[in-house]
Amino acid sequence: MDEMQKLTPREIVAELDKYIIGQDKAKRSVSIAMRNRWRRQRVAEELREEIMPNNIILIGPTGVGKTEIARRLSRLANAPFIKVEASKFTEVGYIGRDVESIIRDLAHLAVSMVLSEKTASVQAQAEQLANERLLDLLFPPPKSRRSAAANMEGEDEDKPSASTAVSPADMFELEERHQRTREKMRQQLLGGKLEDRYVELDVPVEGFPMMQVISPIGVEELGVNLQDLMGNIFPKKVKKRKMTVAEARKYLTQEEAQKLIDMDQVFKEAISRVENSGIVFLDEIDKIAGEKSQVGPDVSREGVQRDLLPVVEGTSVFTKYGMVKTDHVLFIASGAFHVSKPSDLIPELQGRFPIRVELTSLTAEDFVRILTEPQNALIKQYTAMLATEEVEINFTPEAIKEIAKIAFEVNERTENIGARRLHTVMTALLEDFLFDVPDEKIKKIKITAEFVQKRLGEIVKDVDLSRYIL
Ligand SMILES: Nc1ncnc2c1ncn2[C@@H]1O[C@H](COP(=O)(O)OP(=O)(O)OP(=O)(O)O)[C@@H](O)[C@H]1O
Ligand SMILES: [Mg+2]
Repeated sequence: MDEMQKLTPREIVAELDKYIIGQDKAKRSVSIAMRNRWRRQRVAEELREEIMPNNIILIGPTGVGKTEIARRLSRLANAPFIKVEASKFTEVGYIGRDVESIIRDLAHLAVSMVLSEKTASVQAQAEQLANERLLDLLFPPPKSRRSAAANMEGEDEDKPSASTAVSPADMFELEERHQRTREKMRQQLLGGKLEDRYVELDVPVEGFPMMQVISPIGVEELGVNLQDLMGNIFPKKVKKRKMTVAEARKYLTQEEAQKLIDMDQVFKEAISRVENSGIVFLDEIDKIAGEKSQVGPDVSREGVQRDLLPVVEGTSVFTKYGMVKTDHVLFIASGAFHVSKPSDLIPELQGRFPIRVELTSLTAEDFVRILTEPQNALIKQYTAMLATEEVEINFTPEAIKEIAKIAFEVNERTENIGARRLHTVMTALLEDFLFDVPDEKIKKIKITAEFVQKRLGEIVKDVDLSRYIL
């Protein structure tokens, strides 16, 4: 079913390796936790219920790849995956139930996932039906049949209907001829010969966008969608629109696909997917941990932890798609824990995150690799950007070493912001080129260790200056 679920731990790590340097322990843990979801689903039912997710806390200094691991996992994961900042729940205006919105958002995500899968699976059939409808538009059924049909619906009762004038034999003849022409039209249509013809379609008028704005906070909480409600009260308006056959086909295919999909089934499947393979990445969890002795903001932090607890422990959340049980949702938390420690979290919450993984500080050697190896490595980014100006930039290996060394030193001397330092160092280093290009005289740039030294050496020596620039 799910791509991600099929990946073995080794394969997951290999995927993460494409973007994140080092942090092997963290990669291992998340890959095991991911694979365990897949394993659990294959265990006999009674036992399956007993197997709890391996919730993880990733602990490590700032800028070493915690969020990056989450981001990459989410792209890999074909499972419903959501990343939230735990600290957002401590913001002003927070109300306890907001925590449940994580699960509601996850359910929403799962619904669109399942829906797009289903849509893809009925695509061929929907397109076929759409083509039939296009044929009707291009080549309406003969009058006789239409009025005969109308007669049956009893609409033309008092008017002398046209069909009375046509004998059954004639009607048969008409029908025959019509079918033949329709068949020819169909061949042309399917052969793509009518794509630029115009047809007229009834399209629904978009609902009032105002509805979203005036929808009072809290309605969504009850799992009721105001727009759905209003939609039921005021029937959808339609208007006629002219469009090409090609355009109309897209539109009608969509419409037919919708009719072929049983939304109740979609909701059911989506909910089961959230319950069995949903993943919540709780970033910045350290921001809601605080020493208990303190008063003031910590009260609300502890409050957030208390609100999180049932969701992490397993509760039922009411969503507009139905009840979602959170017992088996996987939670991966992450935090720098500079000020607070994992032990500052309330014990119940600590107990729900049995796996602790520490991410290590990055070394100058790691920086060299981060600059060059990941698929989105900074050196690759700048090379590609300058290439758009037809400028070729090259970094000697020594220059890259020098950049890494400088980033490392500035981290040591000022504040350790991890790999984020590479961004500031690189921009400072390349600023002049980025400003001067395009320029006829600049077609090739070679960055050497000497150049790096000349450009940044002075700034690095001056701690105050590097605080501002790097
Ligand atoms: N191990 C790594 N390998 C490759 N790139 C990395 C690594 N660590 C950090 N980076 C780069 O640094 C940036 C910041 O890292 P990230 O967002 O993961 O920090 P974090 O660990 O979540 O820090 P914070 O605690 O401040 O949230 C990333 O966008 C990525 O480009
Ligand atoms: Mg982060």
